Amino acid sequence: MKHNFDELIERRGTECKKWNTYDADVIPMWIADTDFKCPQPVIEAMVKRAEHGIFGYPTNLNSFEQSIVNWQKKRFGWEVQTDWVEYTPAVIPAIVYAMYAFTNPGDNVVIQMPAYHPFHAIIPDNGRHILGNPLILREDGSYDVDFENLEELLKKRKTTMFLLCSPHNPTGKCFTREELTKMSELCLKYNVFVVSDEIHSDIIYSGNQHIPYGSLSQAAADNCVVCVNPSKTFNIAGVRTGAAIIPNRNNHDLFYAPLEALKAYGRTIFGTLPIEVSYNECEYYADQLLEYLEGNRKYLKEFLETRVPKIKMGNPQATYLMWLNCKGLNLEPKALQQFFLQKAKVAMNEGSTFGPGGAGFMRMNIACPRSRLVEALERIEKAVNQL
Ligand SMILES: Cc1ncc(COP(=O)(O)O)c(C=O)c1O
Repeated sequence: MKHNFDELIERRGTECKKWNTYDADVIPMWIADTDFKCPQPVIEAMVKRAEHGIFGYPTNLNSFEQSIVNWQKKRFGWEVQTDWVEYTPAVIPAIVYAMYAFTNPGDNVVIQMPAYHPFHAIIPDNGRHILGNPLILREDGSYDVDFENLEELLKKRKTTMFLLCSPHNPTGKCFTREELTKMSELCLKYNVFVVSDEIHSDIIYSGNQHIPYGSLSQAAADNCVVCVNPSKTFNIAGVRTGAAIIPNRNNHDLFYAPLEALKAYGRTIFGTLPIEVSYNECEYYADQLLEYLEGNRKYLKEFLETRVPKIKMGNPQATYLMWLNCKGLNLEPKALQQFFLQKAKVAMNEGSTFGPGGAGFMRMNIACPRSRLVEALERIEKAVNQL
């Protein structure tokens, strides 16, 4: 089956956050969903299910868990068991559940800066402290892990969790096996539990490879929760369903205990169905999406290099979120955001909202039809030339 990623689809008027937040003349390239229709088999399965007309209490036949097992095996070679998989409403709630299960109020949670902005909220909002390990920016725009500093943070008495974003949003870094192994060894050494947010793991550009954290070693598997969601790949974030993979039974029970107490479980048929169909039937879509995004990424890079050299980008290894170095425009973070919004009429995420190391950058979501990307870049070129 061939998916048409060039199709322009009107999203205003569909309770769409990306398109309803800014004025009608703005191209929104911010929040991380795509402007692509989800796979046709998903649409057909949901229509068929809707036409049945009865939406009573669902039972759990393990088909949801099995679809996640299938995908991890097929795409990453990780042998997951169905009873390691736990339904969660999405990835962010799963991270919070893990914080409740594996840390105490007042503990430290380590994240790597710059960091996906909700991480900055969920840690303090739940009474834990953020310890930021700055990623090291290299001349070519890529990033390295500062292992020395990471070790200093992990060794602190109250550090009990490392929240890893793999691959990394917003820098687009895909961690190598060596880097992940080193991280896992340090976390085991200092008895720090790992939550690995792998929501972007399907969007890995050629030459790189995603390694599921739980596949590193038995010891790493016994010390982690891996959070997944096909929402980014198949554009189904609105169905609000994700999963946590917890290889160790004791950890699984610890993770599940607060949910049991709060009765915070119960899946929805329109949440699990699109995930099952996406993972079981739509590998073709994931492959074609990646190819299309590679094209967008290449177009963006060439455009900036030849026509807007004041804005620089490295060679992002993963995600459809491009981390653009706009320091050459000499604007403070607020002014930078306003410049793109008001002069170029393009909405992106301003870098300082991702914390230390983010000022001077903008995060651009390129998961849109090529023609829209072209228009946005032409607007940016014009605005920069008038600056
Ligand atoms: C790294 C990362 N984690 C989690 C999320 C949100 O996931 P969910 O909607 O499943 O909570 C996003 C969305 O952009 C993300 O980029």
